[in-house]
Amino acid sequence: MKAAAIDRFGPPAVLTLHSLPVPQPGPTEVLIALYSAGVGVWDASVRDGSWQPYGRTKFPLIPGTDGAGIVVAKGARVRNVRLGERVWACDYANPKGGFYAEYVAVNVQHAGRVPKHLDLLQAGAAPTTGLTALQGIDEKLQVRRGEMVLIFGASGGVGTLAVQFARRKKANVICTASGRAAATLVRKLGAEEVLDARGENAFERLRALAPNGIDAVLALAGGDALERCLDLVNPDGRVAYPNGVEPEPRRRSRLRIVSYDAMNGPRQFANLGRAASEARLQVPIAGIFPLAQAAKAHERIERGHIVGRIALRILRGDR
Ligand SMILES: NC(=O)c1ccc[n+]([C@@H]2O[C@H](COP(=O)([O-])OP(=O)(O)OC[C@H]3O[C@@H](n4cnc5c(N)ncnc54)[C@H](OP(=O)(O)O)[C@@H]3O)[C@@H](O)[C@H]2O)c1
Repeated sequence: MKAAAIDRFGPPAVLTLHSLPVPQPGPTEVLIALYSAGVGVWDASVRDGSWQPYGRTKFPLIPGTDGAGIVVAKGARVRNVRLGERVWACDYANPKGGFYAEYVAVNVQHAGRVPKHLDLLQAGAAPTTGLTALQGIDEKLQVRRGEMVLIFGASGGVGTLAVQFARRKKANVICTASGRAAATLVRKLGAEEVLDARGENAFERLRALAPNGIDAVLALAGGDALERCLDLVNPDGRVAYPNGVEPEPRRRSRLRIVSYDAMNGPRQFANLGRAASEARLQVPIAGIFPLAQAAKAHERIERGHIVGRIALRILRGDR
């Protein structure tokens, strides 16, 4: 099969098209013919070696933590998934290789059925970010109807989905986003108010928009601008951020600040499928690259200001 892989850690150029054996599914695994894969900011850290979730790395290494496609083979103990089914999957350190490939073999526990309303391009760009967004809003923050919620860094991969999950809970959603395109997108996704966290008077604007304070914050970026916003969180308010956000938010005595990693088990995939269908989740795609141009996708990731998520298109055809 074709796969975008690395033979050593380094800059985007180390990511090249390889011809590698199709992985064979073990008893509890499904083999997915991938239609698309997501590209995340954390993939750049896998590629340059600054984050090694696989432990001792064996090369060639195929990056990619998520994707979607069709089940083409399965292990003897897999009962709940049929051949030909559309699935999405997420795995941070898949022992049989990542998702920048024509095929991936993953434990069936780390996969779920794609909601009907999503095509396979959107679905491939959603699992890691969707699990992260949903668990932030529903589990870590336990957002409730009528609460004032701030999504800090709302125009990126996780944020664009978190806005929709917060609206599903009927919260009042304020977002930070920079630039007109990003602001327009997050408004379309359900944000009631949008402000540029790094803009002039951001603190005063936020205070005017939330005169009774903020109940919960999902922080998808850190730094001075976030710290100023956190001054407006109500006593006993909640703040959650996925590990990887840097600098990490400063601890404060009166706020409950939790960090987390997105979980990818059967319960989490069932929750994601249900929430995505209920919210009629839209997955904004900021750019699509063919598998052979994965290096270009990484160059794009490293330039920053991605409005939505970058995706690799692997197989053609609308399924
Ligand atoms: N542990 C886990 O399970 C897990 C899973 C997924 C993601 N993550 C982490 O979660 C974070 C978000 O992921 P993502 O995919 O959404 O990233 P992303 O697409 O790069 O989005 C980051 C967002 O933060 C904004 N931002 C960046 N720096 C900022 C600053 N100084 N002030 C205000 N806003 C700023 C960006 O807006 P601009 O475009 O305006 O800069 C963008 O909207 C990353 O750190 C990632 O590593 C962790």
